[in-house]
Amino acid sequence: MAILIFFFIVSFIAPFSSSLAEHRFHLTKHGLRQNNSSRSQQYIEITRPLPFTNLPPSCTLNILTHDFANTIGLPPVSTSYSPPPNCTWTHVALQLNASSKGEQYDRIAAVWLDGAELLRTSTAEPTDQGIFWTVTKDVTRYSSILMNENISLSVMLENLVNDIYTGVYQVNITFLYYDVKKMDASLSKRNNRKLKLENDVFVNDLTSEYEKPADLIIPVTGNGREGFWYRILNESGLHGQRVIIPKNTYKAVIEIYVSSHGYDEFWYSNPPDSYIQMNNLTTKRGHGAYREVLVNIDGILVGSIVPFPVIFTGGINPLYWEPLVSIGAFDLPSYDIDLTPYLGLLLDGQAHFIGLLVNDSIPFWLVGANLHLWLDKNCALPCQVQAKVIDFGTPKFKIERSSSFLGLDGSFEVEVKRKSEISSWVNSTAGNLTTIIKRELKFENEIKFYLNGTEKKIKQKVKEEVEVRVLSDSGGTISKTKVKRKFPLTITSKTLPSMENDTTLMLSDLDHEWKEKKKSDGGPSISLKNQQQCNGWMVVQDHNVLHGGAITQQTYSYSNEADCYARIISAANGKLMNDTANNLCAASPSKFGSFSAL
Ligand SMILES: *[C@@H]1O[C@H](CO)[C@@H](O)[C@H](O)[C@H]1NC(C)=O
Ligand SMILES: *[C@@H]1O[C@H](CO)[C@@H](O)[C@H](O)[C@H]1NC(C)=O
Ligand SMILES: *[C@@H]1O[C@H](CO)[C@@H](O)[C@H](O)[C@H]1NC(C)=O
Ligand SMILES: *[C@@H]1O[C@H](CO)[C@@H](O)[C@H](O)[C@H]1NC(C)=O
Ligand SMILES: *[C@@H]1O[C@H](CO)[C@@H](O)[C@H](O)[C@H]1NC(C)=O
Ligand SMILES: *[C@@H]1O[C@H](CO)[C@@H](O)[C@H](O)[C@H]1NC(C)=O
Ligand SMILES: *[C@@H]1O[C@H](CO)[C@@H](O)[C@H](O)[C@H]1NC(C)=O
Ligand SMILES: *[C@@H]1O[C@H](CO)[C@@H](O)[C@H](O)[C@H]1NC(C)=O
Ligand SMILES: *[C@@H]1O[C@H](CO)[C@@H](O)[C@H](O)[C@H]1NC(C)=O
Ligand SMILES: *[C@@H]1O[C@H](CO)[C@@H](O)[C@H](O)[C@H]1NC(C)=O
Ligand SMILES: *[C@@H]1O[C@H](CO)[C@@H](O)[C@H](O)[C@H]1NC(C)=O
Ligand SMILES: *[C@@H]1O[C@H](CO)[C@@H](O)[C@H](O)[C@H]1NC(C)=O
Repeated sequence: MAILIFFFIVSFIAPFSSSLAEHRFHLTKHGLRQNNSSRSQQYIEITRPLPFTNLPPSCTLNILTHDFANTIGLPPVSTSYSPPPNCTWTHVALQLNASSKGEQYDRIAAVWLDGAELLRTSTAEPTDQGIFWTVTKDVTRYSSILMNENISLSVMLENLVNDIYTGVYQVNITFLYYDVKKMDASLSKRNNRKLKLENDVFVNDLTSEYEKPADLIIPVTGNGREGFWYRILNESGLHGQRVIIPKNTYKAVIEIYVSSHGYDEFWYSNPPDSYIQMNNLTTKRGHGAYREVLVNIDGILVGSIVPFPVIFTGGINPLYWEPLVSIGAFDLPSYDIDLTPYLGLLLDGQAHFIGLLVNDSIPFWLVGANLHLWLDKNCALPCQVQAKVIDFGTPKFKIERSSSFLGLDGSFEVEVKRKSEISSWVNSTAGNLTTIIKRELKFENEIKFYLNGTEKKIKQKVKEEVEVRVLSDSGGTISKTKVKRKFPLTITSKTLPSMENDTTLMLSDLDHEWKEKKKSDGGPSISLKNQQQCNGWMVVQDHNVLHGGAITQQTYSYSNEADCYARIISAANGKLMNDTANNLCAASPSKFGSFSAL
């Protein structure tokens, strides 16, 4: 079972009082950069174009137009959804267009359909000239919900408008339906990797990196009055729902949506409570720098994720994010955990509690999940899929923390390791398949304070490897998929007293990256590398940036066997500088080849 190692050193001499290290990381641009042009500016999150959106959509559904002004404390805005009549589609994109003008904080938002989350997003902070942006997301994996009639689409965006914070967020949401089947014949010729598994575990995966959409999605979410997400305030805040799954389920995946806010918005930079107490600091951004979202079934830990640290547009230096927003800010990543090996616990026709919690959390986290289920269509009652865990393995968990500080200077480290292996069989009409899942997680965080706490360095590494192997009755390997992810992050920030009254000068650097490689035998192999490097300065008064400057450089490259996309772009002081994009796979093989070291 769990191995727990606790390692704690505290050293201190001559403590003194201060509130200086209150880390003001979340800011607005107070009437900054009065660009006299009256044109509003487009903000963007760099990502690859969806492979099917260059086709003309077969149908378009404008589902919602709403101005989010004083929406704090209100339930989500809802409208009725039905798919467009008489429309043939295989793929669907959700498009959210937004605009705003004035001054406003960044805000978190989400879109739910029939209680299932389709999109977690955050807003860009507006300017007096106005800004606008578009988020386009492939929502094909939610097809089983998208085909239902008379269901409710809900959008939550908590905003506050007053004399100072004038920015209203105007939002349009559209569904675009595409019929990719038409294109199939030609695509299959181009690349013949149609995946043959008896009961369609995978479909032709040329146009989407996802497997065939689930047959049923059960939301594991709240009641909707305050949004369908669960508001998690502390580590003992277990939230969840009892679910009964159909007895012919042969595959299950739980998809987790998560964002961190309040005192935990910058959780990866939070020092331990002892440092805050010893220095009599008033900040509540503490409790150390390790957070992990855990998923339980009936109290048994079945998976976890260390989320990618998405930085909202008011974060660290708001000028970094003009007009290139942070990785994931407009389309926060969701995380899949394969629960197929646990079907043996779920297939008894009884209700089981699926619980979500965040280790070490402080207020607050917004967490929700969708349980995606694939059903054996050839197995109608009384036929029943059978499943059993063969071996739970011996999950290993190790956490080490070290802390040493003298007054406001010090150094703090946390290291977490997880290792697990589970195997189980599922007997459906596709055969008696054995699934073996191996997972390794390594989390390392280091925070250092120098110069009487005025200089801070954060270094974090998250590395995860998951291998899923499916074996046939005869023991032959049907598929083997390995996903490796790395989320490195470094931040340095310096705070200096400024010439002006009650203001401080803050200098900072940020380097973060989403690195992912997926390899499968008999399936698509994918490589993704998305990196941003930023540096900047700003003069800050309270939570307002009075002036400053910033440069952001971003490198994005994606490839699978059929497609690739690369983009190098930078922004300096609010203007795009360089922007080169290409999708010529052959022209840049070395660029993509170089990820093999991941
Ligand atoms: C914190 O406050 C206590 C009680 O007021 C005081 O004794 C101590 O010296 C203070 N520590 C620092 C580091 O200021
Ligand atoms: C460190 O900062 C504290 C609080 O701002 C201040 O009281 C103290 O004098 C500083 N010490 C030094 C050595 O600068
Ligand atoms: C905008 O106009 C004001 C007043 O006309 C002027 O002082 C300022 O320099 C202008 N700013 C820019 C960025 O052009
Ligand atoms: C002002 O905004 C416009 C429209 O976004 C942009 O093209 C122009 O470069 C900006 N000018 C300055 C000085 O920032
Ligand atoms: C549905 O589409 C078919 C073929 O395009 C067309 O013949 C039929 O009139 C359409 N029905 C409705 C109700 O629009
Ligand atoms: C949303 O923005 C996209 C791209 O800017 C545009 O093509 C589309 O027409 C817009 N949709 C709506 C409903 O405004
Ligand atoms: C939303 O749609 C309305 C009506 O088509 C349009 O006037 C408005 O400009 C759109 N707003 C955004 C942010 O796309
Ligand atoms: C959906 O609602 C419409 C209008 O209220 C109704 O005509 C239709 O039958 C409903 N469809 C379903 C599947 O309930
Ligand atoms: C395995 O599943 C198949 C198809 O549902 C069924 O016919 C068969 O009886 C099952 N095997 C056992 C040993 O239960
Ligand atoms: C499925 O295979 C496993 C391992 O090969 C075996 O132990 C189990 O009894 C089989 N289940 C069925 C229903 O045949
Ligand atoms: C600083 O504050 C004083 C008193 O409020 C004021 O007279 C002075 O102009 C301010 N200086 C600056 C640079 O804002
Ligand atoms: C970006 O553009 C500047 C000026 O046009 C140029 O000097 C620089 O080399 C470019 N940087 C990259 C990374 O392409």
